[in-house]
Amino acid sequence: MTTVRAYRRLLGRAGLMLAALALLAAAIVYGLSERALRRAWDVPLATVSVPTDAAAIAEGRRLATIRGCANGCHGKPGIGGAVFDDDRWYGRLVAPNLGDAVRRYSDAELARVIRHGIKRDGSAVQVMPSDMFAQLDDADLGAIIAFLRAEPAVEHALPASTTGPLLRWQLAFGAPGASFAAARIDHAAPHPPKPRADDARAWGRYLAHSTCTECHGADLRGIHEAGFHTPPLVAVAAYPLEDFRQLMRTGVALGGRTLNDLMTRVARERTSRFTDAEIDALHAYLVTLASAEP
Ligand code: HEC
Repeated sequence: MTTVRAYRRLLGRAGLMLAALALLAAAIVYGLSERALRRAWDVPLATVSVPTDAAAIAEGRRLATIRGCANGCHGKPGIGGAVFDDDRWYGRLVAPNLGDAVRRYSDAELARVIRHGIKRDGSAVQVMPSDMFAQLDDADLGAIIAFLRAEPAVEHALPASTTGPLLRWQLAFGAPGASFAAARIDHAAPHPPKPRADDARAWGRYLAHSTCTECHGADLRGIHEAGFHTPPLVAVAAYPLEDFRQLMRTGVALGGRTLNDLMTRVARERTSRFTDAEIDALHAYLVTLASAEP
């Protein structure tokens, strides 16, 4: 009898101890993840010239649509915000209402959040591909900000973002670059004006790096992660120009193939806004990737 009781007491203590350890571990993960989320990044504000004429605003709308900002991640149609992802383990990520945000941000703060991935309070944005937007030149960035400023604010009720346990773990122990574009960006890099249209390859390189890298990887060699796969863009070498135009305009791939939902939507909603000259320049650059491959 006494041995059974002692055994039970021991088991109870072990259970309490385990529970205390689990609580401690959870508190550590929580603390470290909050620290990563609140870390202030020291990236100074830089002035950017923002046009106000109708042509620049229309161009900004086109550029923002091609990059998945308008009529994409931040809501459809427009920029009223959207629930980007909602997952039990990772949490809920809400792309905010940009009509509201631009009224709180100065032009320089908007430039910094777009190009450097740093919010007004100095903390870093998650998921937004600022390392791609960092490739934009001042004129394109200025036009995008002009468009955002010109959009009327719309009321749109959105839930708050939440941070799930797996994401907390990643924030606590993963490399910062896995969570924040800000950690992947060279914040001191210059932003030279984009190449002139008569240098098709250089222009195409600018377009590819500021439009396709989000999904096809910073080096355009494709992304292979759990649940997310994209091909390397050397694939374009097999595309005659006419077929590449068709892909960019309609999403129909070489040989009449239908691609998955994501690239189909990218073509219909984004790259179909490219001009003919832009698609031709992209093609001129992407076909050279094959010879650049080791
Ligand atoms: C939002 C994500 C996203 C963006 C941005 C994106 N792609 Fe894709 N792309 C994909 C996915 C996903 C696939 C794979 C589709 C499949 O295999 O069905 C793909 C496939 C492709 C293919 C392969 C077609 C084939 O023949 O199989 C090409 C070429 C391509 N993309 C070009 C581009 C170019 C050029 C850009 C930039 C102008 C771009 N993509 C931007 C997601 C994206």
